[in-house]
Amino acid sequence: MKIAMIGSGYVGLVSGACLADFGHEVVCIDKSSVKIDALKRMEMPIFEPGLEDLVAANVRAGRLSFTTELSAPVAEADVVFIAVGTPSRRGDGHADLSYVYGAAREIAMAIRGFTVVVTKSTVPVGTGDEVERIIREANPDADVVAVSNPEFLREGAAIADFKRPDRIVIGIEDERAREPMTEVYRPLFLNQSPLMFTARRTSELIKYAANAFLATKITFINEIADLCEKVGANVQDVARGIGLDNRIGSKFLNAGPGYGGSCFPKDTLALVKTGHDHGSPLRLVETTVAVNEQRKRAMARKVFAACGGDVRGKSIAILGLTFKPNTDDMREAPSLAIIQALQDGGAIVRAYDPEGMEQAGLLLEGVQYGQGPYDIAEGADALVLLTEWDAFRALDFVRLKTLMAAPVFVDLRNVYRREQIERHGFHYLSVGRPG
Ligand code: UGA
Repeated sequence: MKIAMIGSGYVGLVSGACLADFGHEVVCIDKSSVKIDALKRMEMPIFEPGLEDLVAANVRAGRLSFTTELSAPVAEADVVFIAVGTPSRRGDGHADLSYVYGAAREIAMAIRGFTVVVTKSTVPVGTGDEVERIIREANPDADVVAVSNPEFLREGAAIADFKRPDRIVIGIEDERAREPMTEVYRPLFLNQSPLMFTARRTSELIKYAANAFLATKITFINEIADLCEKVGANVQDVARGIGLDNRIGSKFLNAGPGYGGSCFPKDTLALVKTGHDHGSPLRLVETTVAVNEQRKRAMARKVFAACGGDVRGKSIAILGLTFKPNTDDMREAPSLAIIQALQDGGAIVRAYDPEGMEQAGLLLEGVQYGQGPYDIAEGADALVLLTEWDAFRALDFVRLKTLMAAPVFVDLRNVYRREQIERHGFHYLSVGRPG
């Protein structure tokens, strides 16, 4: 099949490369010539394990190409995907759909023959209706059907998630879209990934409901972790004990510093807004948003407590800045608010992250960046593990103790066991575990 992918960001680029790898002929389009030129030189705009090799292999095979020009690839395409950004709109928290609608207008002028236009961006309920309306208004002769096909991939595991998804959700209003969409995903049938066809509005809501549910699940276990600390219980065992019940499931029950990233914070807010707009408030999701927001400051207070209640003039070393490992994405990373609170408390913050320091440098002021864990630990009054990169899973605590001004370790991802650290004479604080 011939596919045009509009938007070469995280979702567009990964989806485009994977669809090309399935054997389709894919053109990835983006307005940014800087991004497209870099991609033509095989320079990835994001850090995602395996992406560069996948892109290179498919470009070599002649199935994947990049351009800033939308018209020709859209005219030729059987299926056009819209995978542009839908950031939070300033002020009201709703998703900003200007890029999606802009793409729809351009598509309208370019399509030739029957074309399926698929929204892969995360978009509020009703966006598919509007995309179809915009295209028909701009080009009354257009033979087009608009489809919703949300993407559920995670950063850092994007390629595996795309190629072996738990499900593929496809929202259609016109039966003519069923066959081409089935063709797009036919290679996945080998992995027995279920293809779920539903109505377009339902499909749009599935994406938000899934992210809001996962964000709520994380927030639930984070609050249970707080209670564990008060009553002397172990949150990891609680998570295991409840997760073994298949109705609950064991995933996304890791307590930590709160969820971040480019999706959960934005999508929960947008869903809350949709609920309000339709007179159907989502009180649970609203509470999740508020609790997660407060959590970051609570994590800073944990560091204060580890330092005897005061961090003024103290040197705090931060391990990990990105919102999760295996990405360079700093969007809504809990580290941003935690570091700000530490600096407000008078701390001198040093930090190291394997991939995130460049982006962090644009967002944080007054942070000193180091070469690695031992570099930033030198002279530190506390070491705080904020993102669970593999590189931080086997730290040499004997060496750290000789380097640090005070042997204090705050493990906000529960990577270590208490005995392991205390054996080396460290004061150890983690999340939701007795101590
Ligand atoms: C999330 C969803 O997991 C994807 O299914 C979805 O496609 C994506 O959003 C999206 O809408 O595009 P992502 O934001 O890449 O993916 O990352 P997650 O792995 O979901 O992690 C999100 C945040 O939750 C991170 O800050 C992570 O540290 C935190 N988290 C996750 C926890 O604190 N505990 C957990 O048990 C799991």
